[in-house]
Amino acid sequence: MKLAEKIKKKKIRSAVIGLGYVGLPLVTELAEAGVEVVGIDLDKRKVDSINNKKSYIQDVPTERLKGLVSRGMISATTCYSALRNVDTVNICVPTPLRKTKEPDISYIVKSAEQIAKYIRKGQLIILESTTYPGTTDEVLLPMFEAKGLKVGKDFYLAFSPERVDPGNPIYNTKNIPRVVGGITPACTEAAVALYGLAIDNVFPVSSTRVAESVKLLENTFRSVNIGLVNELALMCDKMNIDVWEVIDAAKTKPFGFMAFYPGPGLGGHCIPIDPFYLAWKARLFGFEARFIELAGQINRAMPEYVVSRVSDALNEKGKSVKGSKILVLGVAYKKDVSDCRESPAFEIMQFLNAKGAQVSYYDPYVAKAEGNGVKMKRTKLTRQTLKKNDCVVLVTAHSNFNYEFIVKNAKLIFDTRDAVKVKNSKVVKL
Ligand SMILES: NC(=O)c1ccc[n+]([C@@H]2O[C@H](COP(=O)([O-])OP(=O)(O)OC[C@H]3O[C@@H](n4cnc5c(N)ncnc54)[C@H](O)[C@@H]3O)[C@@H](O)[C@H]2O)c1
Repeated sequence: MKLAEKIKKKKIRSAVIGLGYVGLPLVTELAEAGVEVVGIDLDKRKVDSINNKKSYIQDVPTERLKGLVSRGMISATTCYSALRNVDTVNICVPTPLRKTKEPDISYIVKSAEQIAKYIRKGQLIILESTTYPGTTDEVLLPMFEAKGLKVGKDFYLAFSPERVDPGNPIYNTKNIPRVVGGITPACTEAAVALYGLAIDNVFPVSSTRVAESVKLLENTFRSVNIGLVNELALMCDKMNIDVWEVIDAAKTKPFGFMAFYPGPGLGGHCIPIDPFYLAWKARLFGFEARFIELAGQINRAMPEYVVSRVSDALNEKGKSVKGSKILVLGVAYKKDVSDCRESPAFEIMQFLNAKGAQVSYYDPYVAKAEGNGVKMKRTKLTRQTLKKNDCVVLVTAHSNFNYEFIVKNAKLIFDTRDAVKVKNSKVVKL
């Protein structure tokens, strides 16, 4: 039986490598669709947690995981030999940037080396990690073909970008359309069949390179537009115009405009990183991706800009940053999640510390903040905490913050998100 047919009949077993924000939701969707899945991760704590029926990912409630693990639909292991017994393998490992802003695909390569050890005829391998165009056909394909297997005939290889937005209450792994590109049409067909089991809409494209570029376009689009509004915020401040009001009014136009908002800097695993995967690859072809570099420069300067505005706001009150007590509200990279990767809050805290401020923080989702030379435990958000601080810097606007309470008790608030909708002399907006 053709692999695509076997998949459609659910006569398969699957593996997912990398059980983080991307991998675990995928494991759950496939298992719920009726496919037995083994998750593979080098992190034993994650593996143990799954086997003990406990979720560590906000988007996968423990209740949901529990039933699937109990019924034997999901298991987890640190051992790659589990690949011997599966028909499909999805790779969901990290793809960070090196300090030099060059792609670090070592996690992909390490997992592919293990796959190559166990690869056998009839298997489908899909890379989901965000990466530069060419990774699947230039890096992975030769590693598997070196085993004497022919792609599209003996095994199948495809790329499908994960587009999940952790914490999003509406869009999730199941209802975000999937783009899929295979090395050969048979590869695309098999990958479309697999996602078709668990995901509402699947959109095939002509190659792995197109599929790889799709994700990079999406995140570059966001990075560039955020760069544009961040620059607008800087301009508006000079001209004493409320940038937030400008954007709110512009977005009443029903076509040709999409609202993006300024902020304290980019965070998370995607937008600050992915555009540089594209820029790096383009550079190998002698092409400088100017929009990407410029947006990156503007966005990366935002944490320092926030600190300079906080300093101005304190100055207005006759205070210097040095010696002031400053409370940072929200350190996760976006609202209503606990993920702190690349969060600008850490850079802001580091700059404030360096200027001699006494910095503390509160985030309902983050008990300990660690990053950028900052290591501290959260304080309590009480009336006394607010009253004793000279300035509150709102970095991440979690939905459960009580702004009335904060405004009532704080001496000064610097709001980087236009979340404090109170007009008050104590509130200064980005
Ligand atoms: N988090 C997001 O919002 C998001 C959204 C879309 C795409 N992505 C992309 O998806 C990929 C995964 O991101 P994530 O957020 O799930 O990362 P993550 O750090 O949450 O999870 C990755 C997991 O892979 C494991 N791992 C690392 N090397 C491994 C190896 N050799 N073998 C087995 N397991 C290994 C890690 O222990 C970790 O548990 C990245 O390329 C990322 O850019 C992430």
